[in-house]
Amino acid sequence: MVRSNPPPHASKPLIIFWKTPYGRSFLELVYVAADRRGQGLGPQLMRFLETRSRSADFFTSTNESNRHMRYVLEKLGYECSGVIHNLDPGDAELVYVKHLVAGY
Ligand SMILES: CC(C)(COP(=O)(O)OP(=O)(O)OC[C@H]1O[C@@H](n2cnc3c(N)ncnc32)[C@H](O)[C@@H]1OP(=O)(O)O)[C@@H](O)C(=O)NCCC(=O)NCCS
Repeated sequence: MVRSNPPPHASKPLIIFWKTPYGRSFLELVYVAADRRGQGLGPQLMRFLETRSRSADFFTSTNESNRHMRYVLEKLGYECSGVIHNLDPGDAELVYVKHLVAGY
């Protein structure tokens, strides 16, 4: 896991990168400081992390209510890979995957 954790109010992105026991790269959280959103930083961070993936696919997840992140993921070519209920009450966790290698 690579972690960079300035306080949430700082004008720096925060990334948590977690490799799962399944042997797949999984980004648990990408966070862009509120005053830096809408400038394309989130997608840039995602693309950079994809180049560092240790598996041929790259997983992440977000709440069903997070329309902004879901929009970013779909724009980057991610597809929904599953749903986890009961993490946040009334707001399912949608798992997304991007296949980095054709045919994988
Ligand atoms: C989600 C997040 C990572 C996106 O990063 P970002 O750098 O702001 O992303 P962008 O600059 O590409 O966002 C701009 C795009 O999103 C769209 N957008 C902005 N707000 C939106 C919303 N509420 N719903 C849908 N789309 C939205 C814009 O129209 C724009 O689209 P375009 O590129 O086609 O013009 C960032 O908002 C963030 O850190 N949020 C808080 C933490 C979080 O929710 N992380 C994700 C869960 S792990």
